Amino acid sequence: MDIISVKTEPYQGQVPGTSGLRKKVSVFKQNHYLENFIQSVFDSLDSFEGKTLVIGGDGRYYNDYAVQVLLKMAIANQFGRIIVGQNGILSTPATSYVIVKYGAMGGFILSASHNPGGPDGDFGIKFDNENGAPAPQELTDKFAKRTREIDHFWWADMPDIDLTQVGELVFGSTVVQVIDPVSDYAAYMQKIFDFKQIKRLFDKGFRMTFDAMNAVTGPYAKYIFEDLLGAPRGSVIRQEPLMDFGGLHPEPNLTYATELVSRMYSEQAPDFGTASDGDGDRYMILGRSFFVNPSDSLAVLAGYLDTIPFYRGKMTGVARSMPTSFAVDDVAKDKNLTVYQTPTGWKFFGSLLTAGKITLCGEESFGAGSYHLQEKDGIWAVLCWLSILAKTGKSVEQLVRELWQKQGRVFTLLHNYDIADKGVAEAVMAGLKEKLPLLPGTVIQKEKITQAFPFVYTDPVTGEVADNQGLCIYFESDARIVFRLSGTNSVGATLKIYINQRVREFDKFDSPATEVLDKWVHIALELSELKRLTGVEKPSMIT
Ligand code: G1P
Ligand code: ZN
Repeated sequence: MDIISVKTEPYQGQVPGTSGLRKKVSVFKQNHYLENFIQSVFDSLDSFEGKTLVIGGDGRYYNDYAVQVLLKMAIANQFGRIIVGQNGILSTPATSYVIVKYGAMGGFILSASHNPGGPDGDFGIKFDNENGAPAPQELTDKFAKRTREIDHFWWADMPDIDLTQVGELVFGSTVVQVIDPVSDYAAYMQKIFDFKQIKRLFDKGFRMTFDAMNAVTGPYAKYIFEDLLGAPRGSVIRQEPLMDFGGLHPEPNLTYATELVSRMYSEQAPDFGTASDGDGDRYMILGRSFFVNPSDSLAVLAGYLDTIPFYRGKMTGVARSMPTSFAVDDVAKDKNLTVYQTPTGWKFFGSLLTAGKITLCGEESFGAGSYHLQEKDGIWAVLCWLSILAKTGKSVEQLVRELWQKQGRVFTLLHNYDIADKGVAEAVMAGLKEKLPLLPGTVIQKEKITQAFPFVYTDPVTGEVADNQGLCIYFESDARIVFRLSGTNSVGATLKIYINQRVREFDKFDSPATEVLDKWVHIALELSELKRLTGVEKPSMIT
């Protein structure tokens, strides 16, 4: 094996977004594109010679190739030990846990999360630090800066490494340890949850469906729910991870998890329906003919988390990303928990989790987690729900209705507008931002605006400031509109409009959000002048 220095030239635009560097596969396939980014990450880290690095991915197209590149570069850069999932597979939460368990200095996750895969789909690479948390902004800024200067990378000239068998291999001064992707994570879940209690639920005939969406959670879900907890065989559907996710969008929501949704709304619906995304960090919860909005799910979790032994007496605070609805706030207040509002993206929860300021955190985009590890965690969230269902004996629907009865139902709606030209999208945001100071006190379509401001976040632990995190407009009638640009696009821009309103009239609880919030969609469009400025007539997605 020779270690060589390879000359290279910088690429434009290697800037990590909400969740790592995410681009079309065709972009990653450019000569040295991946190598440049990896070396830029290495160059931005403090000394790592002799230390441990974790590598895993969600198994999508290009994963197997990228894992080999990472291994050869990590060997050339002289890491002491590289822990890699068998066949290059590790879910995002499992990677995070493995980093901490093995005392690694960090790890790479190869994934574009819920974005479609395959040769025409997306690929991504993300770095988690020694806490198993997504690299903070300060560090990702360093990565981006380095990509603009890079002129060489280190490469181990050697054949591909066999990752099909669990075990250890030695290359020069580096040990490559291939691990089973499921067992460490599954053992940890057994420490957190009372598996016996959940098993009794299944013994009594409780039925669930978990839709793995042909993505990474299949093997995890099969082992945990079917093998360990005794859910009937076939409870985990689409459990085989496929490189292109079977041509589907591996995103758990009402639009893309169609098979699960039709089962849950059928006559023979099981008691509990769940799904996870491409890399296993998102989740979705359904009862029989009943969908649980992720913001409501976070509120239910906040209300019951302390019934799970691992969290008893450990509840400190709760954090939600700013666009997540305020449903959790009242629950937290009742339980004397501080609520933090962070910008979108899991990386902003890291410092709060590490400092012990929060026990639980979540996002409206189907993500939730706790201090058990520093990524969002789909299977953990499902286990939380199972524990609560087992403990209370209530149904999914009952738990959510109790929440609404107590504090009103906070309706939520998200409209995504895909705008081909990023500059145009930025101009819409800039125009609206300029108007904000004039809005408070004014009335639009009979609704009075109380506050309007760009969301700026100062991390209470590190003091780091993140600005440009969205534009918020609050109304007297307990409603809010948020505008922000997505940070996970691989091309163009997606302008997101989030709408919330708290409704206290019981008789409106079962109306569709699209109907209840329709008025606010018109207000949002009028305020932003989106259609006139972009020419885009319709949202590409409504959830
Ligand atoms: C989206 C979600 C965000 C989540 C991220 C990664 O980011 O909105 O909550 O953390 O995906 O899963 P966005 O595209 O909005 O920047
Ligand atoms: Zn994900």
